[in-house]
Amino acid sequence: MTLNPDLTLLSRRALDACASLAAFTEVPGEITRTFLCAPSRDVTAFLSAWAHELNLSVTLDAAGNLRARRAGPTPDAPTLYLGSHVDTVPNAGAFDGVLGVTLAFAVAQALRGEALPFALELLAFSEEEGVRFGVPFIGSRALTGTLAPLLPLQDAAGVSVLDALRGYGLDPDALPDAQVRGAALGFLEFHIEQGPVLQAAGASVGVVSAIVGQDRVLLDFTGQAAHAGTTPMAHRRDALAAAARFAVAAEDLARATPGLVATVGVLTARPGAINVIPGQAHCTLDLRHEDDGARAQALNEVLSTAGRVAQERGVTLKVTHTMAQAAVPMDAGFREALRAAAAREGLQAPDLVSGAGHDAMILAGRMPAAMLFLRSPNALSHHPDETVHPEDVHAALRVGVGFVRALAGRTGEQP
Ligand code: HGY
Ligand code: MN
Ligand code: MN
Repeated sequence: MTLNPDLTLLSRRALDACASLAAFTEVPGEITRTFLCAPSRDVTAFLSAWAHELNLSVTLDAAGNLRARRAGPTPDAPTLYLGSHVDTVPNAGAFDGVLGVTLAFAVAQALRGEALPFALELLAFSEEEGVRFGVPFIGSRALTGTLAPLLPLQDAAGVSVLDALRGYGLDPDALPDAQVRGAALGFLEFHIEQGPVLQAAGASVGVVSAIVGQDRVLLDFTGQAAHAGTTPMAHRRDALAAAARFAVAAEDLARATPGLVATVGVLTARPGAINVIPGQAHCTLDLRHEDDGARAQALNEVLSTAGRVAQERGVTLKVTHTMAQAAVPMDAGFREALRAAAAREGLQAPDLVSGAGHDAMILAGRMPAAMLFLRSPNALSHHPDETVHPEDVHAALRVGVGFVRALAGRTGEQP
């Protein structure tokens, strides 16, 4: 099969753009780019330049999402949305989210000279990871009109989402304008798998069947700080010991429950001195399962364990649920079209469930949504060694171009 030179060059450009964007970081020497941090402006400028090269109209919406739009043939033509997020976890890899954005731009560039019966809108979501405010999907929620309840949330410095938007120079009063208006054909998100499935299957790309549901919970254990040397074990109210028992119990339950994952990603103790019994402990819980019933049952079990271990130590417990996201199936029609586009490229595109949350699960509340995963070598992500194979990026681009052409009624044309 002769590789279309444009797509070979374009997939290289999508990869190179990830390397360029990786330089925009809050922490020199690593990739950390949280919601509305200063380097976000460099990301916006970089992608805007690419969009202008493609004669796309560029806007930064009130939530800080970059929107690059190719108009449809008529004002009432539906819109196909392509994109992902540009924020990162701390000390991240260079591809989580970002590659989904640069591949969307590469698809638009590949189709630049071709008439389409719909508009294309490329989306670079300002926030998906939930690092700064503890709740994810701030960017994509603006498109579905579900952001308002999150505006009062505060970050570690006490800045609310609302004030963060204003401080960045955005106008929260214009958030209604960020919502998707008019006919939406659907949303396609390219994303690295971040897990082991495609590598084990020897597949370049995969089609996401559903995205698992997710609970995010904060737990605050309050006991009594006291002298580590003079306080008998039976007289202690050790907050960290309670939190630690909870963390082990969560891990034990997840190990024993098929399909369940539980992560205590943060565990801090105060006052944090070697010779002081911790009076306070704060930890987080990230709980996921593709079945909402199983996840609810597991959450109930781990939280009752947290209550018990606290009570046994005379420790009080405050539980704050910061997110309860149901599992979301991807659109059956789009999944079939992606599989067919992959088959036309001679590619196996196995179905797989996404253990990671994605903006597609938010957009699915407003339009058909689908995801094409790229293989994650070493199944590694949320880590600086996260990587992709260039040939898989090329494969994903060919599938994406073929998918859009098929949607435009031009199935089978060589991408
Ligand atoms: O946490 C996640 O599932 C994704 O990386 N935001
Ligand atoms: Mn991520
Ligand atoms: Mn991601």
